[in-house]
Amino acid sequence: MRFPTQRLRRLRANTALRNLVRETRLSVEHFIYPLFITFGRQKKIPISSMPGVYQVSVDMLRQEVSEIYRLGIPGVLLFGIPEHKDARGSGAYAPDGVVQTAVQEIKSAYPDLLVITDVCLCEYTDHGHCGIVEQDGSINNDATLELLSRQALSHVHAGCDMVAPSDMMDGRIGYIRKALDAEGFVMTPIMAYAAKFASSFYGPFREAAHSAPAFGDRKTYQMDPANAREALREVRLDIEEGADIVMVKPALAYLDVLRAVKDTFGYPTAAYNVSGEYAMLKAAAQMGWLDEQTAMMEMLTSIKRAGADMIITYFAKDAAMAIGK
Ligand code: PBG
Repeated sequence: MRFPTQRLRRLRANTALRNLVRETRLSVEHFIYPLFITFGRQKKIPISSMPGVYQVSVDMLRQEVSEIYRLGIPGVLLFGIPEHKDARGSGAYAPDGVVQTAVQEIKSAYPDLLVITDVCLCEYTDHGHCGIVEQDGSINNDATLELLSRQALSHVHAGCDMVAPSDMMDGRIGYIRKALDAEGFVMTPIMAYAAKFASSFYGPFREAAHSAPAFGDRKTYQMDPANAREALREVRLDIEEGADIVMVKPALAYLDVLRAVKDTFGYPTAAYNVSGEYAMLKAAAQMGWLDEQTAMMEMLTSIKRAGADMIITYFAKDAAMAIGK
């Protein structure tokens, strides 16, 4: 018998064949685009470490959102940059806060665009931490829960479709679920940033959201990048507390975690392709060191292949255009 030397290569001989046997497909339907909403009017401020991404004021949102909508991107994830910050992050749960106003604006113009809101205090606290800070510099987990649930409720009252707590306090999913249910929002799902690592790849985001901690770091609440089994415990707890969608963040350096989460729980799983992952490709492309479009598609495909059902990515618009071609 002749040894089948060409067995696998036969299916790579032309585009049609390659498409027929392709295992992983990127679809615009699976992208979520993050938006930074800033206070004030008439603002569209470029974020230097994230080329193509802007802080936009509520009055300038229409144009930005119409582009997203036109490209077929089904959802946006909102972050807020308030005018004033304080120790308790009161801008986070103000009924007329930046995110609350933006939600109303977007939902009135595009009722079928999914509006998801990030629930976390770090953009709203003067110290930049995700929770209430005690005298000794530690984070008071349980005092923070009350404020997070107030924030989540204010978003839902404003009309958002889903809340996404990213603070990593223990017990926050159960606490927020209860608060939503108590006010009759039993049908509002929670997307939990379940396995969120203390990562350097959030650097550009912290510039974008003015949320770098003024002292210390987030290692007492975000996870050690070395731990995958602990990530499964985090995800399990969030599911037990009522998470509807679980997220792994960042994506690229944690594809093994993503695969394990998907295989272990089989839950709807999101991956956050974070700011640093975006910035490093943009920078290399600007230098002419990488081909931006093919590298982007390869990155996003790898995240999908590793088990993500949906990808939160600053590349959503670029990828939608690339796929649409
Ligand atoms: C808020 C939050 C962060 C990101 C999403 N939500 C920053 C952080 O934890 O420091 C990062 C997103 C990105 O880097 O794109 N806690």
